Amino acid sequence: MTSKLLRGRTLSFLRWPEAIDDHSAWRYEEDGGLLIDGGKIIAAGPYAEVARKAGAGIGTIDHRPHLILPGFLDAHVHVPQMQIIASYGAELLDWLNKYTFPEESKFQNAQHGRRIARLFLDEMLRQGTTTVVAYCSVHKSSAEAFFAESHERNMLNIAGKVMMDRNAPEGVLDTPQAGYDDSKALIAEWHGKGRQLYAITPRFAITSSPKQMEMAGALCREHPDLHMQTHLSENHAEIAFTQELYPWSRDYTDVYEHYGLLGRKSLFGHCIHLSEREADALSQSGSVAVFCPTSNLFLGSGLFDYQRYRRREKPLRIAAATDVGGGTNYSMLRTMDEGYKVIALNGEKLNPFQSFWQLTRGNAEALSVADKVGTLDEGTDADIVVLDARATPAMRLRMETVETLAEELFLLQTLGDDRAVREVYVAGRPAKSAIAA
Ligand code: GUN
Ligand code: ZN
Repeated sequence: MTSKLLRGRTLSFLRWPEAIDDHSAWRYEEDGGLLIDGGKIIAAGPYAEVARKAGAGIGTIDHRPHLILPGFLDAHVHVPQMQIIASYGAELLDWLNKYTFPEESKFQNAQHGRRIARLFLDEMLRQGTTTVVAYCSVHKSSAEAFFAESHERNMLNIAGKVMMDRNAPEGVLDTPQAGYDDSKALIAEWHGKGRQLYAITPRFAITSSPKQMEMAGALCREHPDLHMQTHLSENHAEIAFTQELYPWSRDYTDVYEHYGLLGRKSLFGHCIHLSEREADALSQSGSVAVFCPTSNLFLGSGLFDYQRYRRREKPLRIAAATDVGGGTNYSMLRTMDEGYKVIALNGEKLNPFQSFWQLTRGNAEALSVADKVGTLDEGTDADIVVLDARATPAMRLRMETVETLAEELFLLQTLGDDRAVREVYVAGRPAKSAIAA
């Protein structure tokens, strides 16, 4: 009943591509097919073979000559910041105080939360992003709104209500007990409902009292299968203030370590100015450092040293993210374009296969969801993006001289955005074309 067969140029990664000619790291079919049933990919391979398996009577959706990839994942976004993206002229702490906290206080109004959650998820799908790890506001209703909208779209999303009880205006503060109770209630209601996953979300050490940090640690202990997300080592003034607030700590990472917040499902946004000790601690615990290039550039925070973190003796697990609204674009293509430039400023390069690995399987592995999304493997959920490298006149012109798949991917990353996203499937259902313009 819900079966469909997609035809196009399929690309999916098996592992990190060591080099641009490391062909065994990915699977590319010039004339590929994906058989989808019950929201899952049940066969993948050359179109002729998959069509034979599908048998007669299943309609083919022909996406040739476009590329079919796993939907993109965005590992760190702030839903309530849609109306402060593009706010001028401040570094992190001023930007939070001047724009972010006042904006997030509007989410006391549940209707506003529902409207923005709806527009946010529509925007993600327009951009080809099928999974996000999201910060909602401090208000429980903002997380309820997000999960309700996400569930309605049958998206696999990970989100949490922010916990914050100090150093911010009254309208965006909870208390250690209320933060704990609201998180607990949201976990009970939403975690594991359909495709929804809950992330315990203490905003960062500056806006949580030691008591609240203890409560966040308790939640992690009580729910060891849940994600935890926070911010770490983004900006020098932030690091100095954290040191003042937690004078006993060896460094910023030590604060989170002390409260039991490190681990394989722990996602730390930014991680720009880590000492070797901090990087070792993240590595040993299997924690994930989240690379947010457009935000790090926009707020003047610094250059995340992606290749050094990957290659150090104790490597870091890395995810990539927009960090909207500190980030300046909703598109993961635009994000990796800026990421490429940041890595270049560190004297290194990220080749296009590595970039697209990061956007798909790499982020899925970092988020511990690669068994479900991030590849076109049989048995996984049919979250898929269809990309058109000739989407604009300038792209079409440049494509005249493109000869290889690597060049085409690099063009998509460098010039592409939502216009290059022809279609998106969420658990097998067309989602981009279904959004009213
Ligand atoms: N640190 C704490 N909160 C935030 C936020 O909303 N955005 C960014 N970029 N950094 C933060
Ligand atoms: Zn953030």
